[in-house]
Amino acid sequence: MSLFKVYPLNPIAITKAAGSRVWDDKGQEYLDMYGGHAVISIGHTHPHWVKRIEDQLHAIAFYSNSVVMPIQEQLASALNEMSGKKDFQLFLCNSGAEANENALKLASFHTGRKKIVAFKKSFHGRTSLAVAATDNPSIVAPVNETDNIIFLPFNDIAALQAYFATQGKEIAAVIIEGIQGVAGIHEATDEFLQAIRKVCDEFGAVYIADSVQCGYGRSGKFFAHDHAGVNADIYSMAKGMGNGFPIGGILIAPHIQAKFGMLGTTFGGNPLACAAALAVIEVMQKENLIKAAEVMGAYLMNALKNMDGVKVVRGRGLMIGFEMEEGLEDVRKVLLSDLKIFTGEAKPNVIRLLPSLAITKEDIDLFLTGLNKAIQLLKQKKD
Ligand SMILES: Cc1ncc(COP(=O)(O)O)c(C=O)c1O
Repeated sequence: MSLFKVYPLNPIAITKAAGSRVWDDKGQEYLDMYGGHAVISIGHTHPHWVKRIEDQLHAIAFYSNSVVMPIQEQLASALNEMSGKKDFQLFLCNSGAEANENALKLASFHTGRKKIVAFKKSFHGRTSLAVAATDNPSIVAPVNETDNIIFLPFNDIAALQAYFATQGKEIAAVIIEGIQGVAGIHEATDEFLQAIRKVCDEFGAVYIADSVQCGYGRSGKFFAHDHAGVNADIYSMAKGMGNGFPIGGILIAPHIQAKFGMLGTTFGGNPLACAAALAVIEVMQKENLIKAAEVMGAYLMNALKNMDGVKVVRGRGLMIGFEMEEGLEDVRKVLLSDLKIFTGEAKPNVIRLLPSLAITKEDIDLFLTGLNKAIQLLKQKKD
């Protein structure tokens, strides 16, 4: 049987990982500035994370959500403390798309309304409503097309207010990434997020902060939306939450009340996933990784801004995008093939850096030296 080919693949088989390093099946070492797509928060195979999952595996891996699970309660209180969203409630699921799907569905249940405001170039996942709220028609199947989603321009306060002034009473939710990832690292401005809070309050709509990629400390605060000094009504989370163990969730403001049957899941919140997520929080606290993301991110961004050949640098914390000057677009390929450094991309020409929040200054310097070398190699080829 062959695999269903939905991704263009690098011909590299990664079989081992530790911290910010991965190794292929031939023993070649790579520096991982991509974090498996923003998933590796505390570092690959962190010993505490491995032990917590191993211990849990010996106790119990799974039981259904029909019984009380103390480990879910532990995770909820750890998340309350870590995020500062004190009285919020937690619903657990398995992925980012699922988190957004549940957030949107919950907003609709809560308001009794159907319309969702999303933004140009947004990405919210590939399940039915999440993909419909994603501004990329090429990944929306005909069955997922709906008039219930409206795409407004990103960071355009006037357009947002004008739309709410006429349609506000029909809108169930506004969904927005604090920093757009797939779009190429574009930050929502503080003023824009504050304006969303205001119109949602005025018209009774739910503010959903898609924090799947930009959340979990990556931006230098627990949620990227926190930089704007506003609270959302629902935060969706996944990627960094389990450091590679599949888990997602939504944090739900206290005024949104649950009813039996509203949301549900078989695997969401299983003990193994909760153990992985608790390990992540414990390590983030012990190693002060949110602060580290802020400090290392600022160091990396500053160095990039001063590097010859780099045209634009955007982002916050360890969620960084940059573009190269003309003629140097292949730098990402050279980084991988010649310098053995993994980076991410955002089409057409943004290089995305989403390393572990535990990346060291030495590894950042290694990356910067590698990038410089890759630029020189490309320049030599051109001459
Ligand atoms: C902002 C954002 N939301 C949602 C998702 C979907 O997450 P998942 O792939 O876990 O379903 C992603 C994935 O890249 C994302 O970047």
